[in-house]
Amino acid sequence: MSTVANRGNWTSRFGFIVAAAGSAIGLGNIWRFPYTAGQNGGGAFVLVYLGFVLLVGIPVLLAELSVGRASQRNPVGAFKALVPKSLWPWVGLLGVLTGFGILAFYSVIAGWTLRYLIWAVSGQFSGGITAEQSGELFTSLVGGTTTPILLSGMFLALTAWVVRGGISLGIERATKILMPIFGVILVLLAIRALTLEGAGEGLRFLFAPDFSKLTVKTISIALGQALFSLSLGMGAMITYGSYLPKNEKIPVAGCTVAFFDTSIAILAGLIIFPTLFHAGASPGGGPGLVFVVMPTIFGTMPFGTLFAIAFYALLSIAALTSTISLLEVIVAYFVDEKGWGRGFAAWVLAGTCFVLAIPSALSVGGNRFLSNLLGEGSGFLDLQNIIFGNYSLSIGALCLCIFVGWRWGIPKALAEIENSGYRMQMAPVWGFLVRYFCPVAVAVVLGYILVTRDYF
Ligand code: PHE
Repeated sequence: MSTVANRGNWTSRFGFIVAAAGSAIGLGNIWRFPYTAGQNGGGAFVLVYLGFVLLVGIPVLLAELSVGRASQRNPVGAFKALVPKSLWPWVGLLGVLTGFGILAFYSVIAGWTLRYLIWAVSGQFSGGITAEQSGELFTSLVGGTTTPILLSGMFLALTAWVVRGGISLGIERATKILMPIFGVILVLLAIRALTLEGAGEGLRFLFAPDFSKLTVKTISIALGQALFSLSLGMGAMITYGSYLPKNEKIPVAGCTVAFFDTSIAILAGLIIFPTLFHAGASPGGGPGLVFVVMPTIFGTMPFGTLFAIAFYALLSIAALTSTISLLEVIVAYFVDEKGWGRGFAAWVLAGTCFVLAIPSALSVGGNRFLSNLLGEGSGFLDLQNIIFGNYSLSIGALCLCIFVGWRWGIPKALAEIENSGYRMQMAPVWGFLVRYFCPVAVAVVLGYILVTRDYF
């Protein structure tokens, strides 16, 4: 275990929670949650999503953290260490692949936030901007060719630069101060949004469930969103758990992370939907939703420009702490298993992701073929998003539950979780969820999708 000693650890309990929350909180909460909720009918979708967070997300999160801490390895090495000479490491490899897949489209969206930050700094949103003007601005950006590619490249370079610095130094320091500030800015924006005329309609859309809108497809998207938002199903939390000190209480850390992550998603909903109904835009606007809606709120508030700058700066940073965790999974694999140097791995792998990001960057208007791959207005980026961001994560989570529940075993996982001397009162419930409920629920959802072939 000589490699384990010098892998580094989080410097404090707070450091781990902040870093894991940093991984979880990102574009998934602010960009993906509102537009998927908007596209899938609002309230009913949100309820199903919350149910999945509680019954699948939290149990899987604790399972991933225990696998990570027990093995002190990257996702592939973790399975190898816990059950030698088996096929389980392939599940870890699927996670590494998924990391590439997600990073390749995530960095494109993250790149857009950088451009919005520059717009905010140059006062673009200060005089107030209508939904139409905002829509045009968005289209002019994402429909370009070189700019979206360059922006995603810049974002990946930033990510590689932090990951190269190693675990506690690079990741922890940056997140510690900035995430709480992000929370405060979001609360202030939500207060503004909720006092806009027409806000009530937005609230109704977000919270009043219309169950006729639910289909197997929307349920599978809610499951994917719960996993995506908590960074589950691809080994990010295995990797982060591997840097977790033995005296850390996994259930407390896990529930804290899930609580903050879910709260930020709901907060984003409380900002977006009231503003959207106020501006008369459509909730089903797709991936551009947040980018089109947000600018319209800044003109309605005092110090709007300052809020715009703070919002886009902090959103970029929230996205960065998520891309860091995605790249960290891939880098940890190549460093631990292939013996690569950390700096080399960070730059080469981020470079590979950049190449993979190019078709996504061109698929929101830049290139006609790539932009309409799945049908009118639904392109390569959407394809990446659903394959890697939904199905891959669901399959990964399913395999992980089978692994922890049936192969490695609940007693061993529990011994790791309670290693700190902390008794998990909900242990029987957790065991039941990991062994039976989660695998069955995820398998049923995936099975239905396979049968109905309503994949995209
Ligand atoms: N959870 C991150 C977000 O919500 C995205 C992510 C998914 C990060 C999977 C790591 C792994 O933005």
